[in-house]
Amino acid sequence: MCGIVGYIGYRQSTDVLLHGLSKLEYRGYDSAGLAVYHQGSITVRKFKGRLQTLTQDIANSPIEATVGIGHTRWATHGEPSDANSHPHANHHATIAVVHNGIIENYLELREMLMKEGYRFTSQTDSEVLAHLLDKLYEGNLVVAVRKMLKIIKGSYALAILCEKEPDKIVGVRKNSPLIVGLGESENFLASDIPAILNYTRNVYLMENDEIVICTQDNVTILDENDLEKQPDIFKVNWDAQDAEKGGYEHFMLKEIHEQPESIRKTMLSRIFEEKDYVVLDDVKITKEDLDRFQKVYIVACGTAYHAGLVGKYLIEKYARIPVECDIASEFRYRNPLVDKCTLCIVISQSGETADSLAALELAKAQSARVLAVTNVQGSSIARAAHDVIYTWAGPEIAVASTKAYTTQLLCMYALSMHFGLLTQHLSKQQYAALRDELFDLPRLVQQVIATDEGLHALAKRRKNAEDIYFIGRGLDYYVSLEGSLKLKEISYIHSEAAAAGELKHGPIALIDQGTLVIALLTQDELFNKTLSNIKEVKSRGAYVVAFCKENAEIIRKEVDELFVIPKAADDVAPVLAVICLQLLSYYFACERGCDVDKPRNLAKSVTVE
Ligand code: M6R
Repeated sequence: MCGIVGYIGYRQSTDVLLHGLSKLEYRGYDSAGLAVYHQGSITVRKFKGRLQTLTQDIANSPIEATVGIGHTRWATHGEPSDANSHPHANHHATIAVVHNGIIENYLELREMLMKEGYRFTSQTDSEVLAHLLDKLYEGNLVVAVRKMLKIIKGSYALAILCEKEPDKIVGVRKNSPLIVGLGESENFLASDIPAILNYTRNVYLMENDEIVICTQDNVTILDENDLEKQPDIFKVNWDAQDAEKGGYEHFMLKEIHEQPESIRKTMLSRIFEEKDYVVLDDVKITKEDLDRFQKVYIVACGTAYHAGLVGKYLIEKYARIPVECDIASEFRYRNPLVDKCTLCIVISQSGETADSLAALELAKAQSARVLAVTNVQGSSIARAAHDVIYTWAGPEIAVASTKAYTTQLLCMYALSMHFGLLTQHLSKQQYAALRDELFDLPRLVQQVIATDEGLHALAKRRKNAEDIYFIGRGLDYYVSLEGSLKLKEISYIHSEAAAAGELKHGPIALIDQGTLVIALLTQDELFNKTLSNIKEVKSRGAYVVAFCKENAEIIRKEVDELFVIPKAADDVAPVLAVICLQLLSYYFACERGCDVDKPRNLAKSVTVE
């Protein structure tokens, strides 16, 4: 999604803006631009394509300036082009604006402004902001911004620069993240923390409808009533290098390798080796609450939704509460049965996904209790929820989610075990057995990662595959869905996942001589059932690659290739199986020469609907 950086201070602002934008590249973008105040006027430079084009332009023709705003755009309204790139400026370029989000009433505003003689140079919704500010400006930028907020509808994070007030940059947000970085004789605006971490760790997370005025030496926050507010400064406790590649060829590979550690961290201070209970500090749900809940909804998008499916399985199994797992963009428009007897669990790595946030707001408005599972402290979803579990995976930069998914699974184990103990459907012995399995996971994950050559070799041999099918039953089916999503998003190979038992109801028609089928058999009770499905596809000519646990190698003669994962209880095996599929997708993408960390058409944080 789009990225924003704003700077005011003593440094060369183009350097700070370009550096900040480079740290936001992971969000996905198709053009980049900046506006700086230079010798009495605003200069705008913006280009379609990679940030490198803008960087090169600035290198060819540097601009001396210590204040400015920058943007990486991911096209929504209007194709990727120089003209549609941000910043957008009014006619004489005295006001420049960068915008993340969508202005919903832009067409009517555009028409109104055009009637008044304003000329538009782009197809974007964002350009109306620059002209509207021009119309409303009467010598005080903050007053004009406040007036504008009363007119525009939609979601936005904005950074604004004004030629007549070059001693400040102004920011505002509504349902799109914006943070303020507080430095020594310099201050920053950004849509995400990595953009400013090179310069400061002191961060303020803006609230909806607040306006921030950054000067070189001051940061003033005005609440929605324009009253000055003391900012609650947050100290970033992770390093900039946590968001760097650290010697790996791609962020995705680095993040796959970080999983033993991120899983350990997620368990830390929640599940204890010697104790028979779970500690979830920010979850205040009691046994009485659980008795009241008639239904649990788990709502999420993409990979987070796949983690939710595992969560549904676990909560129903351990706590015996009915759970429905829904895709957020479906849930929000289907008038779901939500009331005060509902618990709604929203899972989101970024905590900013527009559909998930809207689903959360809907559930809240209908009096549901809302619990967020997210990786980003202070994100919109974390702030809007009643209860929160942080995944503590550290920054995830690659668009393809890996460590966020496995830590979401860990949170699902912790939560379902906690609920199971509260409802007393999970005995202390069952709890202890599961807890011991979880504690062994980091070691087993390490083992899986260390033996990835076979997966790489398979990807090399089959890199020209046009279709790949994943099959499994129970938890293996949920992992198949995630494996298939991972593969298609980064390697662009067409892929589908099928519940193995569903094959004969349709998907088996696609199996032909040599079709690659990846079968998961980590669930002891379902082993023979899936084996029958393997025989079905084999007899139609499929080339079957199977993943099973140790001691299940009897199927070796039934399949074309077999990968053995370490022995673990059925309920935790998905964590190991999915890491094999992450690695396999990664190697397929590399072998096909794909842009692994930034797959085409995708963004890391989907803050628009
Ligand atoms: O930040 P979120 O977890 O809410 O993001 C949800 C999806 O956009 C995300 O999981 C997406 O499917 C990933 N690219 C998958 O790797």
